[in-house]
Amino acid sequence: MSEALPSRVRVVEVGPRDGLQNEPQALGIAERIQLCEALVASGVRHLEVGSFVSPKWVPQMAGTAEVLAGLGRPAGVVRSVLVPNMKGFEAALAAGVEEIAVFAAASEGFSQRNINCSIAESLARFVPVVEGAQAAGIRVRGYVSCVLGCPYDGGIAPDQVASVTRELLELGCAEVSLGDTIGVGTPGRTRALWQRLGREVPLSQLAGHFHDTYGQALANVYASLLEGVAVFDSSVAGLGGCPYASGASGNVASEDLVYLLDGLGIASGLDLPQFIEAGHQVSAQLGRRNESRVGRARAARALD
Ligand code: HMG
Ligand code: MG
Repeated sequence: MSEALPSRVRVVEVGPRDGLQNEPQALGIAERIQLCEALVASGVRHLEVGSFVSPKWVPQMAGTAEVLAGLGRPAGVVRSVLVPNMKGFEAALAAGVEEIAVFAAASEGFSQRNINCSIAESLARFVPVVEGAQAAGIRVRGYVSCVLGCPYDGGIAPDQVASVTRELLELGCAEVSLGDTIGVGTPGRTRALWQRLGREVPLSQLAGHFHDTYGQALANVYASLLEGVAVFDSSVAGLGGCPYASGASGNVASEDLVYLLDGLGIASGLDLPQFIEAGHQVSAQLGRRNESRVGRARAARALD
């Protein structure tokens, strides 16, 4: 168990994908590009722009190729997209992204509902995808969903999470992000999970992906920092959820994460005021409440 906090954290901004994929109102291509540009201007260097999945399953992500084309290639930015199969990979390759993300689950119930196949089938499907990406020099990220609980299967054994994580790394993923998809985890269980995973794989290849359904996401980030985890996914304005996890709320809000990191003296390279601006802008476009507590607090103070 490590108690020294990392001095630097890499934040993977997933708002344009994990956030927007679950908004009832699909944001237009121009607004999606504008959001990505605002995030890059806030210092984001690792940006999940969208996904190449079936538009029948997730209509909000249709047009990801156009978003990538409109955004161009901002210097120093890794643009990532979710890819479930070869069809998605071919679209990602044509779009010229720097990274793809394949996504598996620690629970059979979620795997079936999310990607319509078993965990083993999904891993087999990823083999040619990862090979193709490696041949093209594209970095591969992996996701494991439901690491602290599943909306269909309930509790998930940490051993199962460790096994899927190890398989994704063995397949060739450079990094695996562990998703508390329905936000049920608490800091004690989160720490225990990292300790279990750390016995099997290097923690330096793992990332934390916490949804905030039960208000535990930031506490779980802190618990993970104490274990030495130094990569976190977050969503501007706390956008989103998951279309296959009903009632799940968005990821930890990026603004709240940056406020926490700034407060701890941990470098992230992100600019809080610009991030807050981006969060207000996209919340207004979607006609929804800004789910970042920091964003709301700063807006209230501006009215004083
Ligand atoms: P399927 O129906 O089993 O696939 O779906 P299929 O191969 O039988 O194809 C059916 C149709 O989809 C065909 O079109 C294909 O061409 C098309 P049709 O002939 O009917 O017109 N299709 C595609 N179209 C575009 N891009 C593709 C693609 N593949 C097939 N790549 C499939 C299987 C995986 C495609 C489907 O289940 C799907 O797209 N699911 C979406 C999953 C998704 O995006 N979930 C949300 C992201 S995961 C998440 O949020 C969790 C995460 O945040 C971590 C966490 O919080 O835990 C990452
Ligand atoms: Mg997610």
